Amino acid sequence: MTAERAASHVETEETVTLTIDKTGETHQLRVLSGTTGPSAIDVRDLYAQTGMFTYDPGFTSTASCDSSLTYIDGDAGILRHRGYAIEDLAEHSDFMEVCYLLLNGDLPNAKQKAKFEHTITNHTMVHEQLMYLFRGFRRDAHPMSILVGVTGALSAFYHDSTDISDAHQRMVASHRLIAKMPTIAALAYKYSIGQPFVYPRNDLNFAENFLHMTFSVPAEEYRLLPEVSRAMDRIFILHADHEQNASTSTVRLAGSSGANPFACIAAGISSLWGPAHGGANEAVLNMLGEIGSKDRIPEFIARAKDKDDPFRLMGFGHRVYKNYDPRATVLRKSCDEVLAALGVGDEPLLDLAMELEKTALADPYFVERKLFPNVDFYSGILLKAMGFPTSMFTVLFALARTVGWVAQWKEMVEDPKQRIGRPRQLYVGPDERKFVPMAGRR
Ligand code: ACO
Repeated sequence: MTAERAASHVETEETVTLTIDKTGETHQLRVLSGTTGPSAIDVRDLYAQTGMFTYDPGFTSTASCDSSLTYIDGDAGILRHRGYAIEDLAEHSDFMEVCYLLLNGDLPNAKQKAKFEHTITNHTMVHEQLMYLFRGFRRDAHPMSILVGVTGALSAFYHDSTDISDAHQRMVASHRLIAKMPTIAALAYKYSIGQPFVYPRNDLNFAENFLHMTFSVPAEEYRLLPEVSRAMDRIFILHADHEQNASTSTVRLAGSSGANPFACIAAGISSLWGPAHGGANEAVLNMLGEIGSKDRIPEFIARAKDKDDPFRLMGFGHRVYKNYDPRATVLRKSCDEVLAALGVGDEPLLDLAMELEKTALADPYFVERKLFPNVDFYSGILLKAMGFPTSMFTVLFALARTVGWVAQWKEMVEDPKQRIGRPRQLYVGPDERKFVPMAGRR
């Protein structure tokens, strides 16, 4: 089955009967099925039928859309994009192929890949006037604050790709976002450390070009190590898309009102910034720094288990994966390769991280709750070894996730079932009160 034909759910013959105990009324709800994974109970007309809403804070049991991009089985530790296992994509393809796959539904052939790479390469420069925007930020601004601001501002520079009803403009905006995000991310970094901006180079691949713009200076060219650019590319692949997580749902919700793609992606970046989501790898390194040495691990494990202590083991647990995060497995291997290539194989933080992982995985608290290391546990260590400061970690995540956000946004706009996102609530505030004029208030 092609990705195109799999784009909509199937209404099965199966139904679910809801009985309202108080009145004895019954309501038939249809069951919808996708290609694979759990079915869903269709509650779209529940309110019209019963006058009641469903209640699901955090959307733990709610499917918000049809999507043919990414499949996750959290219990089995499976992640697939358009049907392809993440392990295969990380091992045998590159980020440009994964971008093409997510955007177009199939892996590219050699000609399609060359054309796509050419398109992305030719969109990497940003409007020269956009550079002036950076200078309005304080020197010590967090690069994420610059990224969120500058991405939102792209809609002021690229008016010719903001008409979301035009398929060509949607594709041009998608290409622009994927291509310009590394440039903006590198500019944000350069600005924050007071180094001159470095322009993109069209003879380098996507990952190499980003490393070049981030680390080279006019006085000295950055020496690209193949192991490092390969690891960078792999990090991009592993973060490309992850189904309806908080930032992707934010992009979809923002886009559901018809907002332009640049504004929607800026909204996604904001959501990603939180420590429970994209900010976690930065939090992992901060936590490892705070733990400091192996002998203090038991103290921090005890704190993580203490319900009166807000401390959580960063890089552990996941809303969906109740097994090893498959991305973590891939990155664990990359960590060894890169640290060896960089000659930092005896990195003490890695040593500490491995010991922490071992201790947690042997502790009944973590075992019973199925809390395994997630991708952030390793990405932080790897990025640090590659020379990135912790403040850039979430920026890199945003850069990689841009393709997922864009592909999900496009899928939503192109879905005829799409409606503005508008959740309801269970009101728990005061019932109607009589207005009291100021003189009568105590
Ligand atoms: N350390 C200690 N206890 C934890 C942790 C943790 N990292 N994660 C979950 N728990 C506990 C909870 O206290 C809860 O215990 P209880 O049942 O006794 O009350 C139980 O495990 C279930 O946890 P929830 O909070 O219900 O899980 P939820 O799905 O809401 O949260 C989350 C998932 C936010 C990722 C959480 O595990 C967490 O905060 N982890 C640390 C931050 C992190 O690494 N985030 C990165 C996520 S991956 C990504 O964004 C790419």
